[in-house]
Amino acid sequence: MATINTSELARTFNEGEPLSFSFYYPSENTIKTLNAILAKILATTDRIFLLDMMVTILREIIINATKANAKRVYFHKMNLDIANHESYMKGIEKFKEDIVGQLDRLEGELKKSKLKVTFYTRKEEDGIKFIITNNSPILPEELERINLRLDNARRYKDFTEAYEEIYDETEGAGLGIVLVVLLLKSSGIDPVHYKIKTDGKVTQASLFIPYQMRPEKLTTSIKQQILDDIEGIPTFPKQVLELIQMCKRRDVEIREISEKIIQDPALSTDVLKLANSAGFITGKRVESLNEAVMNIGLKNLEALLIATSARKILDKRYTKFEQIWEHCNRTSFYARTIAAKYKLGNIIEHVSLAGLLHDLGKIILLSTDLEVTNWIADLVSDRKMRTSTVMEEVSIGISHSTIGELIAEKWQLPDYLVTSIRYHHTPLEANAEYADHVGITYLANMLCGVENRKYQYYYIEESILQRFKLSDEKDLNAFHQKLKDLYSEQS
Ligand SMILES: [Fe+2]
Ligand SMILES: [Fe+2]
Repeated sequence: MATINTSELARTFNEGEPLSFSFYYPSENTIKTLNAILAKILATTDRIFLLDMMVTILREIIINATKANAKRVYFHKMNLDIANHESYMKGIEKFKEDIVGQLDRLEGELKKSKLKVTFYTRKEEDGIKFIITNNSPILPEELERINLRLDNARRYKDFTEAYEEIYDETEGAGLGIVLVVLLLKSSGIDPVHYKIKTDGKVTQASLFIPYQMRPEKLTTSIKQQILDDIEGIPTFPKQVLELIQMCKRRDVEIREISEKIIQDPALSTDVLKLANSAGFITGKRVESLNEAVMNIGLKNLEALLIATSARKILDKRYTKFEQIWEHCNRTSFYARTIAAKYKLGNIIEHVSLAGLLHDLGKIILLSTDLEVTNWIADLVSDRKMRTSTVMEEVSIGISHSTIGELIAEKWQLPDYLVTSIRYHHTPLEANAEYADHVGITYLANMLCGVENRKYQYYYIEESILQRFKLSDEKDLNAFHQKLKDLYSEQS
C-alpha cells in the first residue's frame, strides 16, 4: 500500500467525507496506517482516550475478516468444498492447524486471490461508524455460530470467564469476537453497536461508536457538576494580577516590580530560586530581588507568576497528581527546547508555560472521577462496566482540553495560552495566529506520549512534522533522543 497522508484523510473525514481503503493482507504498514488514521480522527472528535481500545478492536475485526477470506483461499487450495458440511469439518480442522495463528502463510495466495478487506469509516451526526467488509460471503452456519458467540459474549463478565468456556472450540475466531465485545463493554459502549451480517456476496462487520455513550441525564449532570466546579475556582490573587499587568508595561521599572514582589515572601523565594537555577545563573549567587528580576527578565517572571498561581490554586482544591505535573514539566522543557532549535526565541517563555499548563483540565477530570466513580457505577448498576480508574471523558461529554480552556479563560490567561491548552491534541484546528505555539505544545506532548508508549511516531500529524523538518523518522528519532538527554542532564 502506498504511503497515505493520514492527516489529509482525517481532515476530509471531519468534513463528513467517508474514508476507506482496501488491502488483501493486513501488513505492518496497513496496521500503521490504520492506527495513524484512528489517532487523528479520534483527536478531531475529542475522543483520543478511546485510542487504545479502538486500535485493539479494529485490529481484531480486520484479522477476523482476513481469516474468513483466508479460509476460502485455503479450501480452494486444498480442493475442498466449503459449502459441503463434511468437507467443511475436514477442512476447518486442517485450517486451524496450518493457518490460524500464522495467517502470514497465506499472504501470497491472498494477494493473488480477488478476496480483499475494506476498511470504511464515516462521521455521522451522533457518532462514528466503522465498517469492515470482506468479499467472501459467510455461510449460514458460520453466521449462526457468530451470532451465538456474540450473544454469549454480551453475557460474560470478563475475559477469563469467556476463555474458560470457549477456548477449545473449533476456529479460534470466536475469541476475537469476545474480546471486541468485552472491550466495548468496559468502555461503556453497548455491544449491540457491533454487528456482523452478510448479503450473500460480502460479509460486513459494523461498529458504531456513539458520541453519547452514557445515559444523557447522567452525563449532563456530571458535566454540570464540573462546570459548576470550574465556576467556583478562585481567580488569581489581586497582587499577582497587578504584577502580571506590570510585567507587560513598557515603561515599568525593575525597582517597582521587586518592591511589589517583596510583599509576598513565598513569591520572593520563588523568584530568587529561579534566578539562581541552572538556566539563569551566570556568575555568583543572586541575593537581591532587583538583580533576580533583571536576570530572569519580565517574560519569564510573568510565566512564573502564572504557573505558580495556577499550581497553588489547583493543589489546594484538587487531588495532587504528581504524575501529571511531572509529565507537564517534561513537556514544558521539550517545548522550550524545540522553540530554541527553530529560532522561535520570541515565544520560548510562552511555549514553556503552555507545556507546563496544557493538561490542567486533567487534574479536574481525575479529581471528579475519584468522587463520582462509585456513584456512576451505582447508577448504571453494573460495576463491571467501569474497570478503568480514569473516568472516560465521554462519560461526561467534556474533554480535558475543553476543561483546561474554560479554566484558562476564567483566569484571563493570555490568548496564546488559552489556545495552546484548547488545541494541544488537535493542533490543525487552531487559529493560524498561534500555529507555532500550538504546534510546539502538541509536538512536545506527543513526544512525551511516545516515551510513555501511549503514542507512536506515526500518529503525529505530518504537517506539524514537516513544519519542524522532522518528517524523516531518523531525524525525528535523533532529535527526540537529544531532548531526552538534555532533560535528564538538567534534572
Ligand atoms: Fe492532554
Ligand atoms: Fe499531555
